[in-house]
Amino acid sequence: MIVGVPRERKEDEYRVALTPAGVRELTDRGHRVLVEQGAGEGSALADRRFMATGATLVSNPDELWAAADLVLKVKEPEPEEYGRLGLHRDQVLFTYLHLAASRAVTEALLTAGNTAIGYETVRLPDGSLPLLTPMSEVAGRMAPLVSAHHLMRPGGGRGSLICGVPGVGCANVTIIGAGVAGMAAATIAVGLHARVRVLDRDLERLRRADHHFRGALDTVASSAHAVEEACLDADVVIGAVLVVGARAPMLVSDDLVARMPEGSVLVDLSVDQGGCFQSSRPTTHSDPTFPVHGSLFYCVANMPGAVPHTSTHALANATLPYTLAIAEHGWRDAARSDPSLAAGVNVSGGAVVLQPVAEAHGLPWRSLP
Ligand SMILES: NC(=O)c1ccc[n+]([C@@H]2O[C@H](COP(=O)([O-])OP(=O)(O)OC[C@H]3O[C@@H](n4cnc5c(N)ncnc54)[C@H](O)[C@@H]3O)[C@@H](O)[C@H]2O)c1
Repeated sequence: MIVGVPRERKEDEYRVALTPAGVRELTDRGHRVLVEQGAGEGSALADRRFMATGATLVSNPDELWAAADLVLKVKEPEPEEYGRLGLHRDQVLFTYLHLAASRAVTEALLTAGNTAIGYETVRLPDGSLPLLTPMSEVAGRMAPLVSAHHLMRPGGGRGSLICGVPGVGCANVTIIGAGVAGMAAATIAVGLHARVRVLDRDLERLRRADHHFRGALDTVASSAHAVEEACLDADVVIGAVLVVGARAPMLVSDDLVARMPEGSVLVDLSVDQGGCFQSSRPTTHSDPTFPVHGSLFYCVANMPGAVPHTSTHALANATLPYTLAIAEHGWRDAARSDPSLAAGVNVSGGAVVLQPVAEAHGLPWRSLP
């Protein structure tokens, strides 16, 4: 198989989908790997390191997309890439897709007619998401750090120190969602000596959080009322909910934000699934925040892109076994023998094959043949 690794086009995205170690795993098995020049630069992976493990460098992305049977990316295709999606009809695209949040990307893939497998919907039998987990760990750990920065005056905030000092209280941090990202955020927020509260509608998740943190935070069963109470005195709110494949539920209204303490910081990790705060809209690392009723919203949809040295390796460690399975057996057989991978197939042959994506856009769907 020919495997292609283009340079990411999204603004401030410095990750790359494959490392030189992954190139070697593929070339050792007889596959050809095309890497776009400069694809790894943002992650301190120079072209020569890819070449040293057997990759061929390609300068023209059209050439790469036209030749590759399997394209490995990090983020969903950008508009400048839509035209490249149809250059190779039987191509498989393996990347984060977040289609429920983007009609434009969904339509571009349907028009291209090939197969797209979304990292974020690959799902193990226990319900966990092995290819979202590493990035949720990164973004979750970053969330209290960016909150701490944006609470400070130079970060645009009211000028509070998240951990307080003797005699002056610490920040109240409310985390909605006790999944991978929420728990990662809680770990760092507790470490920063903030007062932390975690909400989830899944009591089992709250039980685990309670057991893990042994009293270092409060757990709260989520409901509209509980979210409201937990936001009204919050200095920081971190939205970390997920309904797999679907658009994120809207949990924090503008009206509620208007009643929160002036200068609070709200970090919406779920913005990649449409956002769980009413006024969330994706922002970038170069312009990450915007004001809403006296509070500051941080809605960067590719937070791990800011720490590519960590994220590229964390992501590639998780995706490589699936990449190898697709390269070795083709996506159909690989998906037939692994229901986890089958759950990742979002569109194929011009049709949506993942129900929540179809429902998000009012499109028809069919199950995988
Ligand atoms: N912005 C970024 O850069 C970035 C990076 C990685 C992950 N994410 C996003 O972070 C979000 C969380 O990911 P995760 O891996 O932690 O997911 P997860 O499945 O591990 O956890 C999600 C949690 O949300 C809870 N939940 C769902 N609906 C809820 C509701 N209405 N009220 C309260 N809780 C609810 C679930 O019970 C679950 O515990 C996802 O949208 C993911 O795409 C964003």
